[in-house]
Amino acid sequence: MIIVLMGYMASGKSFIGKSLAKKLNYNFFDLDDYIEKKEEKSITEIFNSSGEIYFRKIETNYLKEILTSNKDIVLSLGGGTPCYGTNLDLIKNTKGVVSFYLNASIKTIISRLENEPSKRPLLTRVKSNEELQEFIGKHLFERNQFYNQANYTIETNNATVDSIVEDIVAKL
Ligand code: S3P
Repeated sequence: MIIVLMGYMASGKSFIGKSLAKKLNYNFFDLDDYIEKKEEKSITEIFNSSGEIYFRKIETNYLKEILTSNKDIVLSLGGGTPCYGTNLDLIKNTKGVVSFYLNASIKTIISRLENEPSKRPLLTRVKSNEELQEFIGKHLFERNQFYNQANYTIETNNATVDSIVEDIVAKL
């Protein structure tokens, strides 16, 4: 089985993915980390040197690579991954994939972003907290139509990592 975790930036995909993989004794893949390793550049460097369109192209290629050459893994996507090109179709049509949307409110996302703000190129131009709230609100509105196509939605507001992992395991 390939367990795919999707959701907005800072919705806990990587953190929960690692814990879930450990529990299931599966290998863990984080798509952003995978891209960074393969390209030998950080996500921010890729955005800065080659732009978002290039990033989206390689993101699709590496997503395909991971999905076609592994089984029994947990894969945490980047926040935008299911929202571009054919990525969502690929996820939905790959045999053995079960996908989860980790749903978090704007408030939860902002408080989690405060702990790790620097590594997100899409947010560098957002200055105030007010702007951030507006940006995330609009972005979530656009992206929810994609996230909502996951097989299951897991509510993560006020939940512990352990309880989220349990919720996911119960659906498998
Ligand atoms: C992005 C989210 C990031 C990363 C890139 C673009 C997005 O991943 O893939 O900066 O479009 O939401 P995280 O969700 O892990 O921050």
